Amino acid sequence: MSELEQMYREVILDHYKNPRGHGALDPADATAEGQNPLCGDEVTIFVRFGEDGETIDDVGFEGRGCAISQAATSMLTELVKGRTASEVASLPKEDLLEEIGIPLTPIRLKCAILGLGVLKVALHRAKGTPLPPEWQGLADDLTI
Ligand code: FES
Repeated sequence: MSELEQMYREVILDHYKNPRGHGALDPADATAEGQNPLCGDEVTIFVRFGEDGETIDDVGFEGRGCAISQAATSMLTELVKGRTASEVASLPKEDLLEEIGIPLTPIRLKCAILGLGVLKVALHRAKGTPLPPEWQGLADDLTI
């Protein structure tokens, strides 16, 4: 394993052990719950918007799942804070995968983007942001 890959693995482990944004937000302006049908693991996302009603002020999550799903959702909370609902609606999964930094098998990929898919659905429900076909398929897949 390269030094860089080792570093990414340590960051993932740290997010798994000390998840950022862990816990429900009550009240929340947007929320959704999704399940990875491959394993049954679930993630619920909570979003609070700032005064403009568009900028994501805070994101929280609850759920259970493998290290990749939990670490990726933790990283996601840091990635999207301060961005608008529309920006996050069009955020490509590659941006999150870049943060994760290590190659993932197709099964692990589903784990990694579970939180992002649920977040996009939450924003779609609350703000009517577009849910492109790619994510619509994921949403169906996630049995949200
Ligand atoms: Fe269930 Fe990864 S094994 S989300």
